[in-house]
Amino acid sequence: MDGLKNRLNESVQLKLSFTLSLAILVVAVVAGVFSFLSAFDEAHELQDDVLRQVAQIMDRQRLSPDAPTTDTRPKDADEESRVIVQRLGEANPTATSVDAGGVLPLPATLADGLHTLDVGGETFRVLVKTMADGERIAVAQESGFRNEIARDGALRTVMPFLILVPVLLLIVADLVRKMFRPIAALSREIDQRTDQDLHSVEDHHLPVEVRPFAVAINRLLARVSQSMESQRRFVADAAHELRSPLTAMSLQAERLADAEMSGVARERLTVLRQGIERSRSLLDQLLTLARAQSTAESPPSPVSVQSVYRRVLEDLMPLAEARHIDIGVEGTQDPEVWVSEPDMIAIIRNLVDNAIRYTPVGGRVDLSVSISGGKAALRIQDSGPGIPPDERDRVFDPFYRTLGNGQMGSGLGLSIVQTIARRIGAEIRLGFTDEIRQTGLSVTVIVPLQKHLHDPE
Ligand SMILES: Nc1ncnc2c1ncn2[C@@H]1O[C@H](COP(=O)(O)OP(=O)(O)OP(=O)(O)O)[C@@H](O)[C@H]1O
Ligand SMILES: [Mg+2]
Repeated sequence: MDGLKNRLNESVQLKLSFTLSLAILVVAVVAGVFSFLSAFDEAHELQDDVLRQVAQIMDRQRLSPDAPTTDTRPKDADEESRVIVQRLGEANPTATSVDAGGVLPLPATLADGLHTLDVGGETFRVLVKTMADGERIAVAQESGFRNEIARDGALRTVMPFLILVPVLLLIVADLVRKMFRPIAALSREIDQRTDQDLHSVEDHHLPVEVRPFAVAINRLLARVSQSMESQRRFVADAAHELRSPLTAMSLQAERLADAEMSGVARERLTVLRQGIERSRSLLDQLLTLARAQSTAESPPSPVSVQSVYRRVLEDLMPLAEARHIDIGVEGTQDPEVWVSEPDMIAIIRNLVDNAIRYTPVGGRVDLSVSISGGKAALRIQDSGPGIPPDERDRVFDPFYRTLGNGQMGSGLGLSIVQTIARRIGAEIRLGFTDEIRQTGLSVTVIVPLQKHLHDPE
């Protein structure tokens, strides 16, 4: 019972269906009982009227009932509806049973009027009447007959309800489901949103009762988007502010390196310069992430994948050469994807940067592109250690770095990639380059080829 109660409290739909069904059932039962009782009363009235009329006819016609000697009942007559007319206190000469058409053994002392008597295990409604000529007659009929009429009458009254109830229940359930459909659709739509997707929900198609709720959600979304925007701006501003002093420091460290110094000092200077470099790349990544998170849309345009690959390889070739990485583009296909170019370059650069950094010296990085299902699949495969499946979600978290990778990094690269991918409707898949030996990271970025949904016609 508690389970049902909890479920009812949890679901408006269920509560509404349940309450309405209960109300319908109660009405049906009350109507049923009421109609049964009123039908019962009517049947009583009807039967008493019949008895009275028969007695009247007997009296008016001065008829005198004779004790039957043979069974005079019509063959197809309904036993129960038989009206027995007899003299009161008359003996039963043929000892015929009542069911066989004999007279009722009624006491002569019965008072005039209506009686309900139990005779031989059956209930009879008896009207005793003293006729004008003083003869006392009894007009009787089985009570079962009237009960049957009452029952049939009540059943006929209740039947529509019995049919109506399940139909009404179904209609109510369907109606309630339809009423809640916009809300279910809304919750699905909100569920499918990414954490960046803070545009207001459509409320005009929602039931008026729910609209204030949607308006409140929209206000909340606006507040959240505002606070995220101000946080993003704060990070971008902070990163900006830090950039020039850091650049200055790195320049000074560079000039210091030219100066004469002891081995220990040079060692310490190297560590210092690495620290400055790490902070600078962290700042760059923070700025890129802040830009990626900004709601300001950079307009999409047709972008050649090969041109993006070329731009990124130009930037990262020095790093690849420093690590003797064999890097190249496979195949000559050059599909045009529908995205903003800076976004595409930011994605590919972070992925290629990772591939170069996390592939051991002398390893291999391949870039390729293929087309299927109206989408372009840009693939970056390296011969490094790869990322184990259980870490493939975590690496997209900001500042997350797998333990012991020994490479410099801020842990923001993949988070930038995911933020931009979500905004441009691209999908990122991670796998092993060599699934059998479970080595190397294969990253596939799936981007739409046609005009993107966002683009107003
Ligand atoms: N190609 C790869 N092979 C193996 N591990 C990788 C690869 N790419 C990323 N990883 C792992 O995922 C982690 C997160 O990568 P991510 O690019 O976000 O940060 P990062 O490279 O450490 O720093 P940065 O912000 O400079 O890119 C890395 O620290 C690394 O451990
Ligand atoms: Mg990285």
